[in-house]
Amino acid sequence: MNNSARKQFLQSNLWLERAEKTIPLGSQTFSKSRIAYPNNVSPLFIKRGQGCQVWDADDNQYTDFVSGLLSVSLGYCNKAVDEAVIKQIKSGVTFSLPHQLEMEVAEKLVELIPCAEMVRFGKNGSDATSAAIRLARAFTGKEHVAVCGYHGWQDWYIGSTSRDLGVPAATKALTHPFSYNDIASLKQVFSDNNEKIAAVILEPMNTQFPENNFLQQVKDLCHQHGAVLIFDETITGFRYHMGGAQTLFGVTPDLATFGKGMANGYPISAVVGRKDIMSLMADIFFSGTFAGETLSLAATQATLDFMLENNVVEHLTTMGDKLKTGLSEIINDMQAQQWLSVSGHAVWSFLNIAAHGKYSAIKLKSLFLQEMAQRGFLLGGGHNLNYAHKSSDIDALLTAYQDVLPLLAETIKNEDFSMKFKGELLEPVFKVR
Ligand SMILES: Cc1ncc(COP(=O)(O)O)c(C=O)c1O
Repeated sequence: MNNSARKQFLQSNLWLERAEKTIPLGSQTFSKSRIAYPNNVSPLFIKRGQGCQVWDADDNQYTDFVSGLLSVSLGYCNKAVDEAVIKQIKSGVTFSLPHQLEMEVAEKLVELIPCAEMVRFGKNGSDATSAAIRLARAFTGKEHVAVCGYHGWQDWYIGSTSRDLGVPAATKALTHPFSYNDIASLKQVFSDNNEKIAAVILEPMNTQFPENNFLQQVKDLCHQHGAVLIFDETITGFRYHMGGAQTLFGVTPDLATFGKGMANGYPISAVVGRKDIMSLMADIFFSGTFAGETLSLAATQATLDFMLENNVVEHLTTMGDKLKTGLSEIINDMQAQQWLSVSGHAVWSFLNIAAHGKYSAIKLKSLFLQEMAQRGFLLGGGHNLNYAHKSSDIDALLTAYQDVLPLLAETIKNEDFSMKFKGELLEPVFKVR
């Protein structure tokens, strides 16, 4: 690359310094913060977006493969969604009584999602997962839960990770992680906790496809032991299939949670499920001033309609298949399978970079992000596709990979990382996927 064309991040760095004076970590979200992007060689603030393009604090342009942490499912500033929101703004945002949109959107979810007989809304994915757990505890009269994947920031879940600062030991003792595609690990949780498990919550899929009928086996185990099965479809919902991963894999849970891309970036989540369980929502306390906020409901309605009318899932799958195939070819051609791999479903796939030679995975990923940012790509851990990504965006990403992955291989071979990397290393974050 021509050095004179190198992107600069002066404004990003200045804003980080300023933000950290009033905002701890300079961000509201760990995965958007300076621990997720190597300082000095990455954009740290976004000013605006359009389709799948974003512009950073220094006016550098990127093709965004993070998509607002998968909340942006159609692309920034989707016209149909924004028009629905603007129309709703003109008649009010948050009211003193429920609004008709609440039932309209609930009815839509019941129509689309196999397990959904009743629905309640929240704002974040964490609202929905935490409500589902409280509901399962109330329904079963039990307290322990088994978890697999990521389920948000609340005590009951985050206490089971290494980011557990501030979580009471009594709460931590109630949560038991198990491993995906490892039914023995869940059996162990059940046998260690002797009929005390209220709920099993898992992402129906993240990096690995279910094997040996794993999801059905989980369901059978839950029902043998009187536990509620919750699929956390915060990401998979409306992405793997309009009826969620539960439709794609043909296993219907008791409850499921949705969020992220259901409103193309507007804040809303939902817990849905069996009527006999959901009815108890009337008695437990899950209640919020903004839970029935109408802009996000109008955005959900418009997003789901747009997805259905435009076969969004099919588009994401086609783009994702092309990306996975192209990337696998690059890795095979480089004979780098020992430290590079591709995983996940086409609509949400991952390039995995493992430690190799003298270098840790963190070091290699830091250099990778530096080089991808220089080539105009905003990336995190995965390929978060949205409807605005077109074939030419996938081609451009593959061209950049063709450049950057051999550059990493060369760095490993020549052991000259410190000559090439100009930023601050990423910090390790807890890994649950
Ligand atoms: C599977 C899953 N569940 C729950 C959550 C929590 O959602 P939120 O960050 O909106 O609270 C996330 C967020 O990344 C998620 O990926």
